[in-house]
Amino acid sequence: MNVVVVGSGIAGLTAALHAHEAGHAVTLVTKGTLGEGSTGLAQGGVAGVYGADDSAQQHAADTIDAGAGLSDAAAVGVLVAEGAERIAELVAHGVGFDRTPDGTLQLGREAAHRHARIVHAGGDATGAAISTALIAAVRRTAITVVEHALLTELIIDEAAVRGIRLLRGDDAADLPADAVILATGGAGRLYAHTTNPTGATGDGIAVALRAGAVVADLEFVQFHPTILASGPAFLISEAVRGEGATLLDDTGRRFTFDTHPDGELAPRDVVSRAIARQAAAQGRPVRLDARMLGAETLAGRFPTIDQVTRKRGYDWSREPIPVTPAAHYLMGGIVTDLDGRTSLPGLFAVGEVARTGVHGANRLASNSLLEGAVFGARAAAALGTEIILPRPPLDGREPERSAPSHPPVFDGGAQRRDEAHPAFSRATLQQLMWDEVGLLRSHDGLAHALGTVRGWAASLPTPTTAEEHEDANLVLLAEATASAALERTASVGAHYRIDAGASAGATPIRARSSILETV
Ligand code: SIN
Repeated sequence: MNVVVVGSGIAGLTAALHAHEAGHAVTLVTKGTLGEGSTGLAQGGVAGVYGADDSAQQHAADTIDAGAGLSDAAAVGVLVAEGAERIAELVAHGVGFDRTPDGTLQLGREAAHRHARIVHAGGDATGAAISTALIAAVRRTAITVVEHALLTELIIDEAAVRGIRLLRGDDAADLPADAVILATGGAGRLYAHTTNPTGATGDGIAVALRAGAVVADLEFVQFHPTILASGPAFLISEAVRGEGATLLDDTGRRFTFDTHPDGELAPRDVVSRAIARQAAAQGRPVRLDARMLGAETLAGRFPTIDQVTRKRGYDWSREPIPVTPAAHYLMGGIVTDLDGRTSLPGLFAVGEVARTGVHGANRLASNSLLEGAVFGARAAAALGTEIILPRPPLDGREPERSAPSHPPVFDGGAQRRDEAHPAFSRATLQQLMWDEVGLLRSHDGLAHALGTVRGWAASLPTPTTAEEHEDANLVLLAEATASAALERTASVGAHYRIDAGASAGATPIRARSSILETV
């Protein structure tokens, strides 16, 4: 088969390598150059089960707990069962995971994991090590690589996906295929503050939505708790807290235990909200205290963070550093079955662009690289197989069962809601999403955001340049995200409504767009 893979993070590279190994003719398309996406930036590692006291069942239980009960148990089962094989494959490709003096894999701990089960490479440079190794593996094959090519459309013929339309510079081109695997990553650039690279504009989800694919759970956006609150967003890995670092308020008190018995190692959504509330109460960012780890350990175990924090004027071995949450990961996306198949024949989705059901309402730390590798390989193995409609069915709508340089403001947009609808710019959209579709949400804020975004959608020109295509994608996803968040009236996982109670569980919300209905 002729297979086109779009995206060059761990999911896309793994899918491309496996498809090539299975004898398919593979073209790998990427928006920038190979290695520019989120994978290369990932500090945190890959979760896997190694310790004698650990088990796949416990990894699955932690994943489902972090997901606030909304994870798909079958998808989680696949993830934890096949993780070790994929990690071994990464080792075979040359990823030098960190080891103890006796040669065994060094296992770290991160939030909401009951066991130390995270493997890292280069301390906090795991993603870069994986990206480098997989790109080298791709370069050794006959896989055709097309760089600087923006996906603008899926080509559909007789109700099946038969290729993609691309924009390279000013030139549009069609790339026919028997199957397309989307691995285009997430949409962190919907937000003013994000750990995501500039290319994370949700292109894959947007083109799939326009083509009629089922997309769900867009309201579940994960905010990472600890981004350095000084200068451009820079992530301070959860592994630092896993090693013992603490979060302090202005008086030096560890405030996270006020909201969860696991304190700094509670699920990310809980820690992020605790930080936002404390920062609002004290009028300045909270601080991450890693002094107890000592200068040598900090530089050895976290070389990238050590270097960047020092460049920005902090000696974290001697002083706590200011931190604040930022948009990090999208749990929702294109709905797939256990083999990456979407609701459109011929279209597969893997990695952050996909909604496999693994992450539920909140992703467990270090499950994303793992998911990319596991489901990337599975999608490649499923190429050419019968199309099965994805589970779970999303159409039956049941009611919910229950009720320093940028210290960002977390007030659900209340400060800005009276303003007239502003003119569109990407920065204005990102600020609107941050204010009103962010960490803390309310009906009024979401409704205001939705109205504003719909106004922009009606006035945007038909895109011709890459920037205009990205803007159109962001507007479409902003609308779908705000709309899903408005529809989910109870709080669950990363979706937190300040005007509602908690939900014990909920039916997935399929993304709908009135923008698409009116164009
Ligand atoms: C981190 O190192 O804290 C990020 C890891 C992840 O997002 O899973």
